[in-house]
Amino acid sequence: MPAAQRLVAPVERWFARNQRPLPWRANYEPYLVWVSEVMLQQTRMEVVLRYFERFIERFPNVSALARASEHDVLTAWSGLGYYRRARMLREGAIDVVDRFNGMLPESIEDLMTIPGIGRYTAGAIASIAYDRAAPIVDGNVARVLSRLMAIDEPVGSPRLMRGAWLESQRLVRAAVSPRLLNQGLMELGALICRPQKPDCAACPVISSCAAFRTGRTDSLPAPKLAKAPRALTIPLYFIEGDDGRVLMRHERGALMTSLLHLPHGTNDLLAGTLLSVIEKGLIGTFRHTITTRRIDFQLVAAELRDTIRDGAPDYVWVDPAELCNIPHPSYVAKAMTLAARLQSTQCAGG
Ligand code: ADE
Repeated sequence: MPAAQRLVAPVERWFARNQRPLPWRANYEPYLVWVSEVMLQQTRMEVVLRYFERFIERFPNVSALARASEHDVLTAWSGLGYYRRARMLREGAIDVVDRFNGMLPESIEDLMTIPGIGRYTAGAIASIAYDRAAPIVDGNVARVLSRLMAIDEPVGSPRLMRGAWLESQRLVRAAVSPRLLNQGLMELGALICRPQKPDCAACPVISSCAAFRTGRTDSLPAPKLAKAPRALTIPLYFIEGDDGRVLMRHERGALMTSLLHLPHGTNDLLAGTLLSVIEKGLIGTFRHTITTRRIDFQLVAAELRDTIRDGAPDYVWVDPAELCNIPHPSYVAKAMTLAARLQSTQCAGG
């Protein structure tokens, strides 16, 4: 048996027997595969599973997503983070309706002409939804291939990714089912060939693994020289009106366009938004970590020093019970929960 098939066949067989039952694996509906892959790009599986079905119920197909407002899509995405993904998914859906009659195309070339779909997502849709021989490499696959082929380059490095894409292309050509092979490599990475303490005894391709053969499963791939996330402390103002509504700000920044935030920053920063507050006391603190920042939020009860001045941008009073119906980053739900204005389980993901 040629070398590629010696590797591919056991991975396909292992995946067929050991896969986790995930909602999009029931019938590989291309739209569901697309949404799942976009969600999984920067969010862990357990979190995605808390949001996926609700999102699909709300937007059951490409046309429903294309018809939806950005506001509604962001609301359903609230808590998943990296909101640009949600905006691009909607843009992509509009394009699929316009140019492909609402049906996701099958070829990598066509898929990559759709806004928001790059090489990874195109490979995932082509192979997982349509069972086409398209390569696909994410962090899990890169680690698995680094070990199997002894590609000795650091995690996330362009050289490792280049080597992994070439290997993925070579392997998928030998696949009986690209769908089983590609998901098998991902699933192996998630369940067996983990970053730390890989479970080599349970690996279906241990006999073909260069890292195992040379005792390097713990050192391949080399860890990336990660930058430590920047540590920040940010005061967050909880300003409640007499009617129980809470003051929020519609931020029109580059990253978080049209999400609702709690007013934050120092009074100096707030001055830039024409708001001035009197601090009444600390409600509590909580930590919020995103890829590049570790933020300690200090939730402070506050009152407005004077009424919101004319021209203050985008301030709105929000009933906390309505939070689930508006787009907001997850730190807002954490703050409302800390202030006991929201039960942590109230919005999906909590
Ligand atoms: N991570 C990203 N995509 C995945 C998939 N299709 N199966 C398992 N893990 C994944």
